[in-house]
Amino acid sequence: MVVTNVTEYQAIAKEKLPKQAYDYYASGAEDEWTLEENRNAFSRILFRPRILIDVSKIDMTTTILGFKISMPIMVAPTAFQKMAHPEGEYATARAASAAGTIMTLSSWATSSVEEVASTGPGIRFFQLYVYKDRNVVAQLVRRAEKAGFKAIALTVDTPRLGRREADIKNRFTLPPYLTLKNFEGLNLGKMDEANDSGLASYVAGQIDRTLSWKDVKWLQTITKMPILVKGVITAEDTRIAIQAGAQGIIVSNHGARQLDYVPATIMALEEVVKAAQGRIPVFLDGGVRRGTDVFKALALGASGIFIGRPVVFSLAAEGEAGVRNVLQMLRDEFELTMALSGCTTLREITRDHIVTEWDAPRARPGPRL
Ligand code: FNR
Repeated sequence: MVVTNVTEYQAIAKEKLPKQAYDYYASGAEDEWTLEENRNAFSRILFRPRILIDVSKIDMTTTILGFKISMPIMVAPTAFQKMAHPEGEYATARAASAAGTIMTLSSWATSSVEEVASTGPGIRFFQLYVYKDRNVVAQLVRRAEKAGFKAIALTVDTPRLGRREADIKNRFTLPPYLTLKNFEGLNLGKMDEANDSGLASYVAGQIDRTLSWKDVKWLQTITKMPILVKGVITAEDTRIAIQAGAQGIIVSNHGARQLDYVPATIMALEEVVKAAQGRIPVFLDGGVRRGTDVFKALALGASGIFIGRPVVFSLAAEGEAGVRNVLQMLRDEFELTMALSGCTTLREITRDHIVTEWDAPRARPGPRL
């Protein structure tokens, strides 16, 4: 079968993967209301395309934290990629690099920061979970910086793991042949089995629930890398993040895997963008599956988006070639959306190119008296 869009990889991954692995990748928290909403909300935004504009040349390049990339579509951190494919994070790193875009490596990768760096050139960010043992955190951040990672994506929505019922039913744990590679030498690389989710138990044991804004400042004392705060969905937290020295915000609900019944990220985006007032860039992840979704996020003020599940599903289906294909399909769709909307550069994408359900009705002429 010819794969013609990103979503089709999910069904292929479901066929190929053991149930425990597929469920871990696919599931969301509790009722999975937010999981569906992350997708559905995009359909509440329609286009107001402009016509008769020369769109023979389209430039999708952009600069993120000073790094030039080929398109505003980047790779979100997703854990345990070798569970999807033997080449795991290596394949993702190569595919992102070939596409000229940024890969974010998860703290819980099944390949270490050094191993991923050794795959070749590429702009990479490191996603950080803060462990109770701060020496572990400091060591890991230094290793990432030394390995050439360019920024920290600090995940702030996971003081405890969300309740993912599929993982509880499956008693999810990392297959015995895999380890959390970044923590291997620190005796924290294995995940024990538990009566419920092995991952939830691991998080309860290791991840620091006391994490607070003062730690964002502490992080800045141990690294020169800029910090993106991943998991902000309100104006209030946006303002505090900027005060705390964040250099970017990722509007994210963790792919709907943490608190259920938070809004879709595309619904929360504009609030955050307004609060940021252009002081720092705002990014979005969650439910992006089409080039039209990318355009909508940019029209609402995002500087770029990240994709999570499409990477693991395509990795499971076709390894590096699958991830390359996902990035290429999204790129092509986004380019087409720009052309059909009358935009030739990212700067030309404006709020007026879309209309949302929450916009006030446009002024219409009243009835003639
Ligand atoms: C994630 N996500 C995630 N986030 C993070 O900060 N660290 C991590 O290790 C992981 N791991 C992870 C695994 C899997 C299987 C998924 C689906 C998600 C969240 C991820 O970075 C991102 O926020 C979402 O995946 C974006 O939503 P979509 O694109 O999956 O809808």
